[in-house]
Amino acid sequence: MDSLTTTAGTTKTEASSKSHDTLTITDNRTGKAYEVPITNGTIRAMDLRQIKTDPNDFGMMSYDPAYNNTAACISRITYIDGDKGVLRYRGYPIEELAEKSTYLETAYLLLHGELPTETQLKDWTWHISHHTFIHESIKKFLDGFHYDAHPMGMMISTIAALSTFYHDAKDILNEESRRKQTYRLIGKMPTIAAFAYRHTLGMPFVYPDNELSYPGNFLNMLFRTTETRYRPNPTLERALDVLFILHADHEQNCSANVIRGVGSSHVDPYSATAAAIAALYGPLHGGANEEVLRMLLEIGTVQKVPDFIKRVKTGEVKLMGFGHRIYKNYDPRARIIKRVAYEVFELMGKNPLLEIALECERIALEDEYFVKRKLYPNVDFYTGLIYQSMGFPMTMFPVLFAIPRTSGWIAQWQEMLLDPEQKIARPRQVYLGHDTRDYLSMEKRS
Ligand code: CMC
Repeated sequence: MDSLTTTAGTTKTEASSKSHDTLTITDNRTGKAYEVPITNGTIRAMDLRQIKTDPNDFGMMSYDPAYNNTAACISRITYIDGDKGVLRYRGYPIEELAEKSTYLETAYLLLHGELPTETQLKDWTWHISHHTFIHESIKKFLDGFHYDAHPMGMMISTIAALSTFYHDAKDILNEESRRKQTYRLIGKMPTIAAFAYRHTLGMPFVYPDNELSYPGNFLNMLFRTTETRYRPNPTLERALDVLFILHADHEQNCSANVIRGVGSSHVDPYSATAAAIAALYGPLHGGANEEVLRMLLEIGTVQKVPDFIKRVKTGEVKLMGFGHRIYKNYDPRARIIKRVAYEVFELMGKNPLLEIALECERIALEDEYFVKRKLYPNVDFYTGLIYQSMGFPMTMFPVLFAIPRTSGWIAQWQEMLLDPEQKIARPRQVYLGHDTRDYLSMEKRS
């Protein structure tokens, strides 16, 4: 016991008498024991470094590919309890926000930590809606994309290009500059998304109408044709707003981790957001909603669902829109989305793919393969059906995820920047490649 060392340099007996919030690790290679503090249910990976076999040893590291059990930050934005199916933004349950809030109010909450007062909300809404226009030059390079370019590719490049227009965005440690870029990013995302969509159709761009709500204006820019004033259908406008609320943030997911990682190099927020959109584009993340629809179309009929599930179980294909790294229970967003889906179908007519989706869910929730692995429908399982019924083409589905996630990304980026513990993100590796060797001349290579 006397020989035990601690991070604080005290003996184990001394440390134990002060607190039990410690972890004792015995290194069986040396017989030495170490006591490390436990804070908020975690130990610091750097505390492992003192564990060495000899003074020249680099020290112990933790190995965690894909961050299955590594907390990379302290956050106060979004809380998830994956086992219980709980999701809260700044402490507010997602169910209450979906029922009572609007997307812009929720975005304010995520970014500021508190719900806005009436004046704050007015001011916030005014600023966002007065940053919806984009520079005319952006239209020119959007025109350069091929007619069948995927809109997520257009979003990634166009958002990155915004950094070339707003040089003040480099001033990331200036609060005023960050606020300005926040207005611009949240304001311009729907405009760029709508312009990308109209470009694929060869339709003229529709400019923002600041009198409309955030989702209402988006619908206007997407779907307006010859009307002098576009009036969004209130059911679709509210459905889109609720979907935006549900997608606004989701703590340390792949794209949030990307914006924190890229942003940690102190690049401007447009470049960092473009990187986050790229992460979201992938079929395992925000691209899953598009893949779900392709999968339902491939299945084709309810009768073919059991055969498809068989293929899932042999590992040939995945049941897209199912499973989650954190949720080992029903994704609370999926429950709300299912309700919204029926509201939209009531107006637009039932999506013929719904029966196939319901049959997939019914079988999966009873089947041992899915039950054992705790695979439930996630946020992307039903959204595609709603978006399709609302008239969106499949390629726009991940874009409809990226627009609202922008507020979450900026909230995560800002929290990272203001956290004195954060530095440039730079993981370690376990190197198992060649040891040093002599350069092989060409004739000696096999
Ligand atoms: N279909 C069939 N099997 C699955 C699925 C699925 N959708 N998801 C996970 N599994 C299996 C997986 O093969 C593994 O089985 P085994 O233990 O026999 O090897 C087990 O379940 C655990 O899966 P995992 O791949 O270790 O889980 P993960 O946490 O690494 O992956 C995921 C999470 C979301 C990437 C994965 O569930 C998946 O690929 N789902 C389909 C894509 C999808 O719907 N993505 C949207 C996620 S929610 C919104 C978002 O983040 O954007």
